[in-house]
Amino acid sequence: MELTVDAINKTFISNGNINQVLKDISFEVDKGQFISLLGPSGCGKTTLLTIIAGFQKPDSGSIIVEGKKVVKAGPDRGFVFQNYALFPWMTVKDNILFPMKQIKMPKAEREERLKVLLEMSQLEGREGLYPHQISGGMKQRTALVRALATKPSVLLMDEPLGALDFQMRQSLQDELEEIWLRDRTTVVMVTHDVDEAVYLSDRVIVMSTNKGQIVEDMNIELDRPRNRKSIEYEKYKNQLTIALTKASPEMTED
Ligand SMILES: Nc1ncnc2c1ncn2[C@@H]1O[C@H](COP(=O)(O)OP(=O)(O)OP(=O)(O)O)[C@@H](O)[C@H]1O
Ligand SMILES: [Mg+2]
Repeated sequence: MELTVDAINKTFISNGNINQVLKDISFEVDKGQFISLLGPSGCGKTTLLTIIAGFQKPDSGSIIVEGKKVVKAGPDRGFVFQNYALFPWMTVKDNILFPMKQIKMPKAEREERLKVLLEMSQLEGREGLYPHQISGGMKQRTALVRALATKPSVLLMDEPLGALDFQMRQSLQDELEEIWLRDRTTVVMVTHDVDEAVYLSDRVIVMSTNKGQIVEDMNIELDRPRNRKSIEYEKYKNQLTIALTKASPEMTED
């Protein structure tokens, strides 16, 4: 098993209020699987993803990546943040090189990898520009290949395409799929877009506002690239929309 999420509990206490965000969350992800976490705003998706990344600790439970228990962030887990989080004072090239320098990858190997990543993301010729000089889609691609730079076992993405307009989003979904198909990194992607989840995922886990509990765990058995117009595609979307509605605040109780 590539990734095991085992009985994760997480409670926040703020202003004297106890807020249990994740209660006893468990699932396993196979190597090379692309899974999405789908759920309403505030249901705990980012919290769970950052626990998998090792950015924060659960109250109890554990995360296992390739047989090793996660105790802190590491280069075996790439992360794409909800709002890109590129370093504004670094060029595209230096942003992508940064994680490779962190793990002390030898210079020649770094430069070689940089070339591959720039080609993959169609950013050749832009590597000398700063984040404020490139478009949203380019920023997103920079953030994506930066997360892939150290060849992580698991790629964690928090609404990676959330900030983009509809058309840009669809074309980047295709690019994301192409990049993923090249080396089939195990992916956990957070989204609240049903169409995006069906278009990209092998499997979709729906989380509820009620303590982040898993209310649906569905395999999407469709050939790639997926045909948005097919009846089967529509069927998956309908089923997930129903699950998402049930997972939303007015349908849940404490
Ligand atoms: N550091 C924190 N301290 C206190 N409460 C927190 C903290 N981080 C998250 N929360 C609370 O945990 C809940 C889940 O937050 P989280 O960011 O995981 O939701 P989300 O599913 O990612 O939502 P969105 O789709 O809007 O990004 C929210 O009620 C939030 O206020
Ligand atoms: Mg979030």
